[in-house]
Amino acid sequence: LIEIHRLDAATATRHLDDLRELLTDAVDDGAAVTFLAPIPRNQAAHFWRGRIEAITARTCILLAAFEGTKLVGSVQVSLDTPQNQQHRAEINKLVVLKTARRRGIARSLMEAAQREACKERRTLLTLDTRKNDAAEPLYRSLGYVEIGVVPRFSLNSGGGLDDAIFFYKELGRAETR
Ligand SMILES: CC(C)(COP(=O)(O)OP(=O)(O)OC[C@H]1O[C@@H](n2cnc3c(N)ncnc32)[C@H](O)[C@@H]1OP(=O)(O)O)[C@@H](O)C(=O)NCCC(=O)NCCS
Repeated sequence: LIEIHRLDAATATRHLDDLRELLTDAVDDGAAVTFLAPIPRNQAAHFWRGRIEAITARTCILLAAFEGTKLVGSVQVSLDTPQNQQHRAEINKLVVLKTARRRGIARSLMEAAQREACKERRTLLTLDTRKNDAAEPLYRSLGYVEIGVVPRFSLNSGGGLDDAIFFYKELGRAETR
């Protein structure tokens, strides 16, 4: 059974090692999530400490998926938007442990992220992903609308440049799943 929880700063701090492992598992496998492989241990921990500070500052919602006591996935909703875009939020770093994939965990995380965004009165969500990655069909199936492709947007661990695809979704207008 998978449960999704919104983590407060204290709970996220308790799970710092799990969060670090989650990020390392994906990045070292070539995933396009901010970092290049091999991600140094202290860099991953530093990243999560920054996110925990953002939770305290109320500029980040961090959701985690648990199977029993094991953290198997997470996603963030960034609320750090300008004064004239307080109705908007950005979905970041949707990651599921390699061993837990294709069981609907990312979909559940995204649905929970949308619910939490709604609670914060954020009705326009934006996100981007590497073109042709596994997340692309997931976002489409959740009703995200393609804005377009930016060529050569991000560097990959092999030294090449990958295209990124940008999406948006208006909650409450399209079907909110
Ligand atoms: C993308 C990712 C989060 C998906 O996690 P997941 O828990 O396996 O996804 P789900 O089981 O919820 O799958 C939901 C849908 O996504 C799509 N999908 C997921 N993995 C896929 C794959 N390997 N190939 C094609 N489609 C895939 C399918 O449409 C799937 O629906 P279906 O199982 O009914 O066919 C996971 O592969 C991951 O962590 N990848 C590395 C990090 C990353 O790239 N994150 C995206 C950053 S924007």
